[in-house]
Amino acid sequence: MKLIGPFTQALPLADLPMKGAIADEDLKIIEQAGVLLEDGKILAVDTFDKLQKENPEVAVTEIQESMVLLPSFVDCHTHICWGGNRARDYAMRIAGKPYLEIARAGGGIWDSVTKTRAASEGELTNITIQRANRHLADGITTIEVKSGYALDVENELKMLKAIKNADREVKADLVSTCLAAHIKPKDFEGDAAAYLQYILENLLPEIKQQGLSNRVDIFIEDTAFNEEVSVSYLLAAKAMGFEITIHADQFSTGGSAVGKEVGAVSVEHLESSTEEEIRLIADSDMVAVALPGASLGLGMQYTPSRKLLDAGACLAIATDWNPGSAPMGDLLMQAAVLSASEKLSSAEVFAGITYRAAAALNLNDRGRLAEGMLGDMVAFPCETYQEILYQQGRLKPTYVWKKGEEVEG
Ligand code: NIG
Ligand code: FE
Repeated sequence: MKLIGPFTQALPLADLPMKGAIADEDLKIIEQAGVLLEDGKILAVDTFDKLQKENPEVAVTEIQESMVLLPSFVDCHTHICWGGNRARDYAMRIAGKPYLEIARAGGGIWDSVTKTRAASEGELTNITIQRANRHLADGITTIEVKSGYALDVENELKMLKAIKNADREVKADLVSTCLAAHIKPKDFEGDAAAYLQYILENLLPEIKQQGLSNRVDIFIEDTAFNEEVSVSYLLAAKAMGFEITIHADQFSTGGSAVGKEVGAVSVEHLESSTEEEIRLIADSDMVAVALPGASLGLGMQYTPSRKLLDAGACLAIATDWNPGSAPMGDLLMQAAVLSASEKLSSAEVFAGITYRAAAALNLNDRGRLAEGMLGDMVAFPCETYQEILYQQGRLKPTYVWKKGEEVEG
């Protein structure tokens, strides 16, 4: 058993709701707080003095400076396993060429597929470790990572193995997702439905058998997969035991309705969702995931986050860190920028990158500081929680703990 503290403020987020708007007044702030931990889990969060009095023998890790403590962050949507880069695409985009036009001309996702296929499992493992460790230093202790830059059986398995290797090497938890349904690869002979059938028959059983992932994602869009082929693919994947998440409503609508039809855990992107989709999502159990990094990278509108929260949805925020649309990969900066544009409270932002993001991964053991939860925590060098978003991502954590253990630099 150990006690860490005192923290100038701790925000346990323990009693905040899973869905809907949250006011900062609802945040329960503990001043001069301490956290009691055992076996990587939280036993209690309370005032430091009280915990010390009640546990006089406990080993204390003393915090000398002024620190604000939060549950550490969850990035529930990334593509950080990729080869090469798309700096040329990006230069064309900022000069005005549209994303989908670049994709049609042979750039875009297909370019990353070519480079990722050419990379070895070891190379992909190393680059994934580097990116995950950068996230970890920013206080992100759970990171979802998608395949989807390989698009054939052999190379999708290579990506998922690289993600699994990286998970063994980094202190953060990596949660892998099969995104073989990212686009139909240019070298596949057959239509989109035939490609999805090929994945269903040849890749998904192998992923199950090798224990490489229990999540399936798809990009529903004109340039990728339409709603009809998506529904049958996702229902078949679900019947095999996979949880479903969807790249939905990024440029055109349709994806979130498919999510509802197939019982997806989350629908993600949603930049083009209208009132109809917002209502549909809010009335469902699906987590809505905003990806401000993609809006910044593509220079397009943000996910209607305020409207989603006001309609009663569960809103998470993630980076979408990928080589094309979202190369930045800075969760706190992006969440801060989203909140300024969309008018989100600090409570809504913190919920969106902690327990609500964990819910998008079907994880209920993290994202709040409460008895029985994992000791995944982050402390920022400031006096009040408001300073964290105020510094728009420039304020970096001094301490990050994964399962109660301090993560070194
Ligand atoms: O989430 N929208 C589809 N897929 C990725 C982009 C991938 C890429 O451009 O490489 C996304 O934004
Ligand atoms: Fe994505």
